Amino acid sequence: MNRKSRFGRIGTFARKVLVFLVVSAPVAFAQTPPGVPPDDQAVRQRVDALLKEMSLDEKIGQLSQLFAFGPAQPLEDAVAKGQLGSLLFVTDPAVINRYQHLAVEKTRLHIPLIFGFDVIHGFRTIFPVPIAMAASWDPAVATKAQSVAAREARSVGIDWAFAPMLDIARDPRWGRIVEGAGEDPYLGSAMAAAQVRGFQGDYIGSLDHVLACMKHFAGYGAAEGGRDYDASYISDSQLYNVYLPPFHAAVKAGVGSAMSAYMDLNDMPATGNTWLLQDVLRQDWKFSGLVVSDADAVKSLEKHGYAKDLSEAALDAFKAGVNMEMALDFTAYSKGLPAAVQNGQITVEQIEAADRPILEMKVRLGLFENPYVDEARSQQVLATPEHRTAARLAAERSAVLLRDQGKLLPLRKNAYTSVAVVGPLADSQVDTLGSWAFQEDLVETVTVLSGLRDKFGAGARVSYAQGVQLRREFPSFFDEIFHLKPEPVWTPEQARNEMSRAVNLAKSSDLTILVLGEAQNMSGEAASRESFGLPGEQEQLLEAVSATGKPVVLVLLNGRPLDIKWAAQHVPAILEAWYPGTQGGNAVANLLLGDAVPGGKLPVTWPRDVGQVPIYYAHNTTQSAENQGKRYWDEESTPLFPFGYGLSYSSFIFSDVKLSRTQIKPGETIEVRFDVENTGAVAADEVAQLYIHQRSGSVSRPVRELKGFERVTLPAHGKKTVHMSLGKQELSYWSSAKKGWVEEPAAFDVWIGGDSEASLHTGFEIAQ
Ligand code: BGC
Repeated sequence: MNRKSRFGRIGTFARKVLVFLVVSAPVAFAQTPPGVPPDDQAVRQRVDALLKEMSLDEKIGQLSQLFAFGPAQPLEDAVAKGQLGSLLFVTDPAVINRYQHLAVEKTRLHIPLIFGFDVIHGFRTIFPVPIAMAASWDPAVATKAQSVAAREARSVGIDWAFAPMLDIARDPRWGRIVEGAGEDPYLGSAMAAAQVRGFQGDYIGSLDHVLACMKHFAGYGAAEGGRDYDASYISDSQLYNVYLPPFHAAVKAGVGSAMSAYMDLNDMPATGNTWLLQDVLRQDWKFSGLVVSDADAVKSLEKHGYAKDLSEAALDAFKAGVNMEMALDFTAYSKGLPAAVQNGQITVEQIEAADRPILEMKVRLGLFENPYVDEARSQQVLATPEHRTAARLAAERSAVLLRDQGKLLPLRKNAYTSVAVVGPLADSQVDTLGSWAFQEDLVETVTVLSGLRDKFGAGARVSYAQGVQLRREFPSFFDEIFHLKPEPVWTPEQARNEMSRAVNLAKSSDLTILVLGEAQNMSGEAASRESFGLPGEQEQLLEAVSATGKPVVLVLLNGRPLDIKWAAQHVPAILEAWYPGTQGGNAVANLLLGDAVPGGKLPVTWPRDVGQVPIYYAHNTTQSAENQGKRYWDEESTPLFPFGYGLSYSSFIFSDVKLSRTQIKPGETIEVRFDVENTGAVAADEVAQLYIHQRSGSVSRPVRELKGFERVTLPAHGKKTVHMSLGKQELSYWSSAKKGWVEEPAAFDVWIGGDSEASLHTGFEIAQ
């Protein structure tokens, strides 16, 4: 139990109310011990009983959520008056308890607050960023990471994580691609469900877990030009087949809340979008949880030129199905909804319907019984060594080996007496973590430099030079939230000196490990780019260090594919480590020296250049698909690295693909079986991937679509038979010709292999 009981702390009147509530609730609920899912009917009855007691103001109060930024007094007053249902961005358990005491002891019906926070890839122990976890192609990694994150967050009193982010992103200019699972709906759906399980546990209210919030519903990842917050224009076919499936998967996995997106979707703001929030989410998918708006997104309906004023903005979002409004200083709901009820624009029943899932979540999370957090216990939970081990393993499984010319990797530990570690990200703790890390312990964050120093030990002299500085052209508003103090900008002379110091260090060392990429504030919210070059002078550094003729390994820390065309031809070894988190340096050191074998695969297509975007593997085929002269004349039209790609220190062969049947009827399932063999002398992982193509139909279908994957671990020279199946779920799609889901008679190709260019082929047919 991580919360103190509030019995004994409350007055006589409060106790009477509590007795009334407990007595009026069915016995089954009152007796539900921790660790047992509450009875649905009992939860509903309890909420109904509460709603009967609540005044209109109290009911409307539950629909507001404010950031706990700025002075505490106005917030404390609002909490004590029952004007808020939730706070976000409070992370100190003592402060959480202080607000909660006000909510529980000062308000008439003692309704606790629910505390939300952006727990995106860890709380104190920071895991690799979500795109990295997707690169593990191992949903168990995501489940484990988010369950540790949930445990840590819950230990300080946070009940609600604003994650997972499920936006499919096919344009890496968009900075938030780092927060999601990449470009593919099938991989994205698997990662969505895995994260929901991690956050929520077996049911909402599981011990040491939190409520998850799928976001941003929906279409944010298609922001035009990759510009953050920009409008999205997505066809129905793309919405149903690409952008919505991860959200649907999260709903099927039981996600308890959703966040409405900021932007216009096909000219209709997502936060005022009845079609999205009612028709799709609640009617088609039977979602019964709560919808919270993104920050100030309700008020923004006015800015979008959709609502004429704040009252109309409140009304639009409310009617569209936003239960709770998240806002910075005040909510449009608190200003607009009382009048809207009074003048008959909405009914009290509608307000109650909006309250219901909010109160239900509070009941399910056990907040009425245990509203307070045990401050002492939280310190122990946050310091759990097992959490750091999980973070290291996740980082090892997330890394993608992009190139290993001449088998430079794994490095032999005793082969080098002097090692240069060079680059602006090599010894930066903040940049090892990535965006959305607020509660990390920097002291326990292991950079690549310290991981390597530790690993090489006394065997090699490991020296460091930063080489260049990294700086955004325009600062990020997050820098203030992170309290980032940028180092003073080097003078041109200093910059020249640092560059030559780095190059000279490389010259005088046996080996150089370059750690380049993007600073943490260059990827994430409000961190879109119009180019993919290595920021700052990093390309010059890379080329100058390579020109020394000494062996060079490039480790990338970043949140999106970058333009590494030159490196991909000239640097023998490239490891994509993403932002690997608290244990990143140890993970990278293990990978480079062969104590862990890279097995991650790209969850995004890696373009050669920014002009190729959007570029994704599941495009439709054309009359001359790869005919270079007819596509671009100044650059190859293929990606630098395909979706699903990643090397290993071993090699694999796929063989013997067999289908249980070669002809089925719609609705039937085919079993697919094939062998994967590790042909090398080290134990290693391969991600077996299955792609299909429907050869004809009511509309054109993508050239390939991922429909199965499994990360398998094989001993040296080991072989395994992998089983997958193709049924209605995999073989149907939303047809813009039929305006609905179809499974059509057609011939299908099947490919099996280690990336989206897999070549082991077979086929089958769906007959009428
Ligand atoms: C982001 C959300 C986040 C919220 C609260 C917004 O700016 O878009 O993803 O959950 O802030 O921090």
